[in-house]
Amino acid sequence: MTETLLAKIWDQLGAAATSRSPFNFLQLATAGLDGAPQLRTIVLRRCDATKGALSFVTDMRSPKIQEIRNDPRVALVGFDPAASVQLRLSGEAEISDDEAERLEMWQSLRERTLILFSAPHAPGSILDDNGQPLQAGEPLNEEPYKRFALVTVRLNRLEWLDLSSEHHIRCTFDRDGATWRGAWLAP
Ligand SMILES: Cc1cc2nc3c(=O)[nH]c(=O)nc-3n(C[C@H](O)[C@H](O)[C@H](O)COP(=O)(O)O)c2cc1C
Repeated sequence: MTETLLAKIWDQLGAAATSRSPFNFLQLATAGLDGAPQLRTIVLRRCDATKGALSFVTDMRSPKIQEIRNDPRVALVGFDPAASVQLRLSGEAEISDDEAERLEMWQSLRERTLILFSAPHAPGSILDDNGQPLQAGEPLNEEPYKRFALVTVRLNRLEWLDLSSEHHIRCTFDRDGATWRGAWLAP
């Protein structure tokens, strides 16, 4: 029975990576460089059920990149309000250096996303009232593609919580070699 739910989770994540479905936006948690948790929204860009992996894109200069390099353990959470379902995920993030994979993702992005990588200042730079950085950053001498990061999270745990009926359902799946070990939990 947990297998049916696992298939449903991967179906929903697969749909979320290609369309505006509830889990298209996920919240990504990293450990900050000072150890404090850091949380932000990302767009799910790719779901590979076979590898048990999810991908998102970001700016190579964004703080989360340093955080992932420092500690690749991350957690993600999504919420489907119409279904009253929460999906918690955790795993290890990797910043891709596979040029073929990077290029394939880059070419799949829309113009309005690509333009973000032309932003002159690193995400999080402090700006004055005129939008100029208070501290001079690195000169912008790299092409936007070089500032593009493809991050893939190899999941090691998925957790589904369904509060849609009086009988709440909570189920976890832990990676176990090439398969997933499912278990029902008290909600
Ligand atoms: C709806 C929405 C979608 C977002 N998607 C992304 C994304 O896919 N990648 C990303 O780096 N930041 C995305 N952001 C911005 C992040 O939430 C965050 O503010 C930014 O990446 C800086 O995070 P950092 O300082 O922790 O690196 C999104 C924000 C919103 C509100």
